[in-house]
Amino acid sequence: MMSSIAEELESIDREARAALAEATEEGQLESWWQQYLGRRGRLTQVLRSLPSLPLEERRQVGARANALKEALQTAYEERRAHLERVRLAREVAQAQLDVSLPGRPLPVGRLHPITQTLRDILACFQSMGFQVVEGPEVEWDYYNFEALLIPKDHPARDMWATLWVDYERDGERPMLLRTHTSPNQVRYMERHQPPIRIVSPGRCYRYEATDPTHEWMLTQVEVLAVDEGISMADLKGTLADFARRIFGAERQVRFRCEYYPFVEPGMDVLIDCFQCRGEGCRTCGYTGWIEILGSGMVHPQILANVGYDPERYTGFAAGLGVERIAMLRHGIDDIRLFYQNDLRFLEQF
Ligand code: PHE
Repeated sequence: MMSSIAEELESIDREARAALAEATEEGQLESWWQQYLGRRGRLTQVLRSLPSLPLEERRQVGARANALKEALQTAYEERRAHLERVRLAREVAQAQLDVSLPGRPLPVGRLHPITQTLRDILACFQSMGFQVVEGPEVEWDYYNFEALLIPKDHPARDMWATLWVDYERDGERPMLLRTHTSPNQVRYMERHQPPIRIVSPGRCYRYEATDPTHEWMLTQVEVLAVDEGISMADLKGTLADFARRIFGAERQVRFRCEYYPFVEPGMDVLIDCFQCRGEGCRTCGYTGWIEILGSGMVHPQILANVGYDPERYTGFAAGLGVERIAMLRHGIDDIRLFYQNDLRFLEQF
């Protein structure tokens, strides 16, 4: 009995190795495996019969059978690798395969141009000590208008064409999609004491017919600094520094009076046109100057309404449109391109 199993192992060893050396194709390798190592393979059957042997014999034959199994598995892997090398060498020799060709490029995702510009803007303010905070896109009339000193029926409401949410309370519709990120000024001040240095990014919505410079959805960044002794000099220094970091160190900055109900005084920030260097071209509408954001000193009434002492604290605020900044940076002439999901456009960034 013992000798017959030992003999079987020897003949498996001999025959399997000889057969493996003959195998040259995938199909042959496959059937070789089946024949010797597969579920009904010869060696597998020997291994399966081991438990029924007397202990002493099981030890000896078992060790030999397991060693053979490992040896045959290794031989199989080596044969496979060898055949693969031969195949490649043949293809190279026959010029079917050129290993010096560059690989196929993998399509790699990228950040949307608005996300890229938004991150650059936030990084700029963060490096100046501002902290990023967010607020809701569905907003109350109170934060979007009332608390910013824009009462009902005030003509200033016309500055923001509003999308109202179909929600009624006391015969009114006090819920809307925020038209700007300024509500976050009040939301943040209500819960924090000065000193305050925040930037608040987010999507805003406007009931507007779309054209090359208007979209019904846009991204804004709100800037707010409140502290003892904050002055127009801080506003100008901070915003000029921002403009130069984004649009080039040589930029000239101009501040022009503008009315926003929640600041006093209010002003728009303009930069000299980097396209024509101030001579007048299409980008700047032949004025030499490009408007990049709205700003001003926080209205003392707003400070008082959130419980600050306006005699002690002052602040400045600014709001900028990310799409506008991205369009200027990249020379994009139609805001609608950002949200059309056209890869030919998006892959350029
Ligand atoms: N919220 C204003 C807008 O969307 C911009 C602004 C913000 C102006 C802060 C002044 C101060 O038009």
